[in-house]
This record gives sequence, structure tokens and C-alpha cells, in this order.
Amino acid sequence: MNALIDARDLSVNHPGADRPVISHIDMHIDPAEIVTVVGPNGSGKSTLVRALLGQVALSSGKVERLAGLRIGYVPQRVHIERAMPMTVRRFLSLPLRVNDAQAAQVLERTGVPGLESRQIISLSGGQFQRVLLARALLNAPQLLVLDEPTQGLDQPGIVAFYKLIEEVRAETGAAVLMVSHDLLVVMRASDRVVCLNGHVCCQGTPQAVSAAPAYRALFGAESRGTLALYRHHHDHDHDDVGHVHEHVHGPDCAHDHAHAHDHAKG
Ligand SMILES: Nc1ncnc2c1ncn2[C@@H]1O[C@H](COP(=O)(O)OP(=O)(O)OP(=O)(O)O)[C@@H](O)[C@H]1O
Ligand SMILES: [Mg+2]
Repeated sequence: MNALIDARDLSVNHPGADRPVISHIDMHIDPAEIVTVVGPNGSGKSTLVRALLGQVALSSGKVERLAGLRIGYVPQRVHIERAMPMTVRRFLSLPLRVNDAQAAQVLERTGVPGLESRQIISLSGGQFQRVLLARALLNAPQLLVLDEPTQGLDQPGIVAFYKLIEEVRAETGAAVLMVSHDLLVVMRASDRVVCLNGHVCCQGTPQAVSAAPAYRALFGAESRGTLALYRHHHDHDHDDVGHVHEHVHGPDCAHDHAHAHDHAKG
């Protein structure tokens, strides 16, 4: 089977950073699978996504993307000029022109029919996220890349959004790479979860990952969702993390992260 994206040994050093933001990451995305990246703030999730898309310079490794791969990308931050009026209809035509029928159809698909003439800045958070998804779907993507697509949504909105993603996958066969903080919901909606903290701490099925010591070390034993993420400290016990790989797929954490190295030696 041909992976849509196959990345080996990815490392990224942002200018001015004293150590790599992500280091020695192997990652692949197969057709039609839903892969979710979880990890604390600053753990390199968005950087990893952008590296996979070829948007940041690599300091090591390489990324192979299937030739002609169509990608629909919703970045974590979408800058909308508040002073400039823009309707939903116009927004959907940037950068790719679409006709009225296509616009209407995709808004219907994402559960926000009839919003064409609304101003983007007047939309609720949930409506805006759906419009972003709609725009990402316009190019009939083989891979949807969604960086924290449920930010600003309430709990029912989050559940509905993931249900929509699963429907889209079932209908179009698109693979989905998501970054998320909605641990419990996302776990249920994913085929594979990658737990990131500069390096891949663990990855596998949601069941395997949620049971993994590395995951628990990062998110707290109870791991009840978003809150646990903010309690994380970067100096968590990497020894624990090292044991994970006996149970879950992934490289040896103790050797693939500068910080883990210090910890292991110290
Ligand atoms: N363009 C950049 N230049 C310099 N440093 C950067 C750049 N982009 C990100 N960083 C740094 O790299 C680290 C990882 O950032 P990244 O945005 O990948 O994390 P994240 O896991 O997506 O975090 P969050 O959960 O807050 O979205 C952070 O310390 C951030 O400050
Ligand atoms: Mg991010």
C-alpha cells in the first residue's frame, strides 16, 4: 500500500531555538485513515504538521508525499482582516474559484447551508470552523489536515464536528490528519493516535495509547481532556516514557529527544 505521506527522521530547528522543536520523527499517513496528533502546548504539533506539508525547513530527514496529492489544510490560526468585509461565498473562492452550486453543496455538507451571504466576522465559532472545513473540502482532498479544528467549540459542538469528519471520511475516502486537545472525543474518532512531545512518545490505536505510561505521564493518569494538558510540565519522567515502547509502537524516547537525553544521563 502506498502511504499518502511518509516521513523519516524529521527534525526541525526553528531559528533562535536552543534545541530542536521536533526531533527524529518517523510518521506516515495511509489512505483513508484518521490520525490524530496529541501533545501539550509547544510540543511541536503544528510544526510537525507543517513539516509534513513541506512548509518549514527540515534540519534532518525527508518527507515523501504521493505525487499530485490533493490536500485540504485548515491551519491552527486563520488570519481574517477584520476591517475588510468578506462574505462566506467569497471566502470559499479563495484561493480556488468555485461556482455557486459547489459553494452551496459544500456548505450543506458541513452542516451550515445557506450562509453564503453572511460576513465571515459575523459567524459564531462553530459556524466559522465549519466554513473552514468546507473550504478545505472544495478541492476533493485525498488528505484533510486539520490543526485544532474544534477550537472555540462547546462540547456538543466538538462531538458533532468529529462525527462530521468521520462522515466525510466515509463518503470521500479522504485520510485525515488532525491535531487536537479534545482527548476523549478524539480518541474515539481516530484510527491511530500519535502522542508528541518534541519526539514521538508513543503511538498506536487509541486504546493502546491511552493505556500507555507515556501518555499517562504527559496527560495525567485520569486524562480527562483538555485540562490535563495544561498541567503538564516539560520535565516529566522520561524514564516512564521509555518503557512505553515495549507495549506501543514507537522509537525509544530516551534516545530521540535532546531533553530526554539529559534526563537519561542525569
Ligand atoms: N516560526 C517559528 N519560529 C520560531 N519558533 C517557533 C516557530 N513556530 C513555532 N515555534 C516554537 O516551536 C515550539 C513548538 O511550536 P508548535 O506551534 O509546533 O507547538 P504546538 O504543539 O502546535 O503548540 P500548541 O498546542 O500551543 O498549538 C514552540 O516553542 C514555539 O514557540
Ligand atoms: Mg499548534
